[in-house]
Amino acid sequence: MKIAIFPGDGIGPEVTREAVRVLQAFDLPGMVLFEGDVGGAAYHRHGHPLPAETLEMARAADAVLFGAVGDPACDGLERHLRPEQAILGLRAELGLFANLRPATTFPGLEAMSALRPEIARAIDLLIVRELNGDVYFGDKGTRTLDDGRRQGWDMMAYAEDEVRRITHVAFRAARGRDRRLVSVDKANVLETSQLWRDVVNEVAADYPEVALEHMYVDNAAMQLVRDPGRFDVVVTGNLFGDILSDQASMCVGSIGLLASASLGERRTAHGTFGLYEPIHGSAPDIAGKGRANPMATILSAAMMLRHSFGREAEAVRIEAAVAKALAEGVRGADLGGDAGTEAVGDAVLERL
Ligand code: NAD
Ligand code: IPM
Ligand code: MN
Repeated sequence: MKIAIFPGDGIGPEVTREAVRVLQAFDLPGMVLFEGDVGGAAYHRHGHPLPAETLEMARAADAVLFGAVGDPACDGLERHLRPEQAILGLRAELGLFANLRPATTFPGLEAMSALRPEIARAIDLLIVRELNGDVYFGDKGTRTLDDGRRQGWDMMAYAEDEVRRITHVAFRAARGRDRRLVSVDKANVLETSQLWRDVVNEVAADYPEVALEHMYVDNAAMQLVRDPGRFDVVVTGNLFGDILSDQASMCVGSIGLLASASLGERRTAHGTFGLYEPIHGSAPDIAGKGRANPMATILSAAMMLRHSFGREAEAVRIEAAVAKALAEGVRGADLGGDAGTEAVGDAVLERL
């Protein structure tokens, strides 16, 4: 159980610390933690957001626990030196193409949703976001046109095998849940999306027991707040998945609650190599104040135990402890309460 811990920037180290305490509470045999630099922190120390030694550390591990990267002081750097390149680089270099972002309403938290409680109560969905392609990883640049105007451009593309493998992940997930899959695209405008839709339809033939529906992304954004309970599994591309998952977090109540697993094909002794991180960023506006909600990172550690180490029982215990803390009124500032980062960590630990 070799776990690389990459705390990163802003609230990253604060929330990661609490998740590490939870992992250590189990005293699992063979668990070894080692820490590496990523993001702005790595840039300031080593001149690069994803130093070679950090990447090596990730490769040597069975799983990575990632905090967050992003530092306003680095926003003016050339793109390849910006903190965000650390997470994009890890996802690409480690072949982590499948990003699972579950969003479920916790009992007792319905009133914290940005939606009406009776609408929020029904949320139990999983966004399966493709993570290695799309406009994120296409050629990009800024050029000067013949008439002297500057133009920024980013190439959006998906190859059929990229769509096929994420679609299989989504169908398999749906088969283990409520057997409903919505594929989100923009096929009425984008060629990339038309191919996406065609490939999803081809793959669907292998999963007759799953009900497949296609939805345009603008409609999906609307349906997600109109009636989120209609979704079980959602599969979509990198950019749409990024946006819809932040939106889903506020349907549940806070971005401080949504965990994620990023998986590829590499196997570990008892599961799949993966990178685990909250869906939120470094939150510079609250960094250093001890006010960040660590639950998303703690729940990411639970996903790690499940997917990379086959420790389902421990994963369920963590999830139950978080749910119990919330049901009993433990609230960070993001949920209208005054429990600080460490106090929330304590509350979860007490209930483990
Ligand atoms: P953000 O997710 O960091 O913050 C958005 C808002 O949510 C802020 O008001 C913040 O205070 C709040 N918030 C986020 N996490 C919270 C938590 N755990 N508890 C309480 N409140 C929380 O998004 P942003 O402001 O758009 O981005 C800030 C930086 O983070 C940028 O540099 C961005 O590129 C980076 N980012 C990194 C990741 C990542 O590392 N995977 C993800 C998203 C954004
Ligand atoms: C996320 C973040 C990243 C993304 C950024 C920081 C590159 O927003 O993990 O959701 O867009 O994937
Ligand atoms: Mn995001």
